[in-house]
Amino acid sequence: MKELLRELREKSLSAIDGTNTAEELDALRVQYLGKKGELTAILKQMGKLSAEERPVMGQLANDVRAALEEKLDERKAYLAEKALEQRLATEMLDVTIPGEKHKMGHRHPMYIVLDEIKSIFIGMGFDILEDREVELSEYNFTKLNVEEGHPAREWSDTFYFDDDSRILLRTQTSPMQVHAMESRELPIRIIAPGRVYRKDEVDATHSPMFHQIEGMAIDKGVTMGDLKGTLNEVVKQLYGSSTVTRFRPHHFPFTEPSCEMDVQCHKCGGKGCPTCKGEGWIEILGAGMIHPKVLEGCGIDSTVYSGWAFGMGLERLALRRFNISDLRLIFENDIRFLEQF
Ligand code: DAH
Repeated sequence: MKELLRELREKSLSAIDGTNTAEELDALRVQYLGKKGELTAILKQMGKLSAEERPVMGQLANDVRAALEEKLDERKAYLAEKALEQRLATEMLDVTIPGEKHKMGHRHPMYIVLDEIKSIFIGMGFDILEDREVELSEYNFTKLNVEEGHPAREWSDTFYFDDDSRILLRTQTSPMQVHAMESRELPIRIIAPGRVYRKDEVDATHSPMFHQIEGMAIDKGVTMGDLKGTLNEVVKQLYGSSTVTRFRPHHFPFTEPSCEMDVQCHKCGGKGCPTCKGEGWIEILGAGMIHPKVLEGCGIDSTVYSGWAFGMGLERLALRRFNISDLRLIFENDIRFLEQF
């Protein structure tokens, strides 16, 4: 038995030295010291010993158990330390390496102006509508009182999808007026910003794609005075309280009467300069009282309700707001230009 204990001691101590993980170590602990372990198996034979031998063997067995436990603890601490060292080596963080700078983008100048306009109108109780860019000619033209044969309906002016000139890229945001009238309860106060498309060549003031903001208010007793008061207030909030404006008579098929709104040139104060092409004024939008035919076509009783509407070019507003001279800069996305705002 003494020999068995000696063997167990030798073989277990060297086995423990050979372990590399905490799991291996645990397995050995069970194998040698567990209830069904090898040491227990030897101790079960104690009964066969004489009364003199028993305490001696008992002492010896206790020594082996103590030596084994000590060795297991020692190895456990050693493996833990090794694992930590390895983690520190692989997860090493060099705080002296210069940081990587992430470039933050920012809003495009045109969208800065759009957000300003949106918040001005929201402050006046208007809702924002955003919708389709592919439109039926019925909505883009017919329901807006733009009759067959109107030049805007020409193939040379409009992007059509089909040979019947039924489906097109909208040429104006005005069809949003019709969608709003057909889908909303009265009274209606909305603005509808978005892209529009025309077969124009690109130059300093033209692009085949540009942005408009449509606006519309319909209620009982709405007059041209409301139109002028609202748009004057919007322009003053946008460009400053000293901004001078004027309204000129004009013609649009879907409004009667119709007008255009000009803002006095900020560069020359109205004297005339290259920015305003010598006019002293810069046109910013078309507007008018919604034509009774348009209201009736959308099921609104024009003897009870009236409304005004406008459409403005967003790029043009942004050019003026930031003193930009060429429309193309808005679309080219040259970072050196965009970073200035
Ligand atoms: N849709 C017109 C255009 O693209 C602009 C316009 C004029 C819109 C008068 C309106 C309006 O709502 O009442 O030229």
